[in-house]
Amino acid sequence: MVSLSTALLLTLSTTVSAYKAGFSGHAAKYSIVPGFFKQSDNSTDVKTFDYHDNLGLNDNLTWTEFKQQIDDLNENAEEGVSYKVIYYGRHGEAWHNVANDFYGDAYWCYYSVFNGDGNMTWGPDPYLTPNGEAVAQNNSVLIKSLIKDDFPLPQAFYSSPFTRCADTLNYTWYDIALAPGYVTPVFKEVLREQIGGGTSELRRDRAYLEERYPGWDFEANFPYNDTMYSPDWDETNAGMQWRGRFFLDDMFQTEESTFISATAHGSIGAERRKIGLHSSST
Ligand SMILES: *[C@@H]1O[C@H](CO)[C@@H](O)[C@H](O)[C@H]1NC(C)=O
Ligand SMILES: *[C@@H]1O[C@H](CO)[C@@H](O)[C@H](O)[C@H]1NC(C)=O
Ligand SMILES: *[C@@H]1O[C@H](CO)[C@@H](O)[C@H](O)[C@H]1NC(C)=O
Ligand SMILES: *[C@@H]1O[C@H](CO)[C@@H](O)[C@H](O)[C@H]1NC(C)=O
Ligand SMILES: *[C@@H]1O[C@H](CO)[C@@H](O)[C@H](O)[C@H]1NC(C)=O
Ligand SMILES: *[C@@H]1O[C@H](CO)[C@@H](O)[C@H](O)[C@H]1NC(C)=O
Repeated sequence: MVSLSTALLLTLSTTVSAYKAGFSGHAAKYSIVPGFFKQSDNSTDVKTFDYHDNLGLNDNLTWTEFKQQIDDLNENAEEGVSYKVIYYGRHGEAWHNVANDFYGDAYWCYYSVFNGDGNMTWGPDPYLTPNGEAVAQNNSVLIKSLIKDDFPLPQAFYSSPFTRCADTLNYTWYDIALAPGYVTPVFKEVLREQIGGGTSELRRDRAYLEERYPGWDFEANFPYNDTMYSPDWDETNAGMQWRGRFFLDDMFQTEESTFISATAHGSIGAERRKIGLHSSST
């Protein structure tokens, strides 16, 4: 069995990036706009970087100035170029993370293909642990504390179709954006974790998600069942990275909002590597 990049899965990391997209030929060319966030600067030590410090916004900027500068960039952008800010949220601890730690990587290769061990259940689609829920609730407190500073709230919310991500989105944004009815989150298949490596990567069907998250939307053509997972197939790193890129293509081609929230998995780091930038989530 291919061993997955488990180092990416162990801790929650949340990051914000301002992206620039321009077209050359048929394919969009993406870059991260430097100067706004510490995590976008190569000199930032990703091991000590802590997003709790104002989500990494550079000390010489206020949120009001940041929002103004993004608006100015878009107003003055040349033909074919646009700018978007993506707030990536990553789920905290879920049961497959606990089980992986409990058994260790070598034994986990064996156990991960089962649904559980009678003590813990890690598949299909494991839930967040109470610790994982607490991290998302704590992020909610952090974001609420920034609102008085004019923090630009996301205008659109996307989630991986796994409950550990949708619950993270819910606990983070519930009273800020969901309960007031200000936005409807949308499930997007492309935001799921690297496929393979056990039952934790098999998702539930659409009816389950509709019942657990009433009112949430699904992207067009969202498959009812999980058609991508197969017990004897592991997605390559390159495949996963292309999904990260497809997400950006989708955002820049079909999403009108400038400020976007995406709640996903450790593979959010892969998406940043794909466009040649270091990742604060590794
Ligand atoms: C703010 O600080 C960052 C990081 O040091 C720097 O890249 C950027 O140019 C500064 N911006 C201004 C307006 O001084
Ligand atoms: C909770 O949030 C505070 C402030 O944002 C941060 O300092 C602390 O490390 C967080 N605790 C956990 C468990 O995430
Ligand atoms: C059950 O799982 C927990 C970790 O969640 C572990 O600490 C405990 O030892 C396990 N018990 C058994 C009987 O395997
Ligand atoms: C969403 O969050 C709210 C507020 O914390 C909570 O009452 C509700 O049960 C959560 N829903 C899910 C599916 O976790
Ligand atoms: C989803 O999977 C179930 C169980 O395998 C099957 O009975 C059902 O027909 C499938 N539904 C669709 C829409 O493919
Ligand atoms: C930051 O590092 C990446 C990957 O090593 C590199 O492609 C990029 O050019 C660097 N950016 C700057 C501003 O030095």
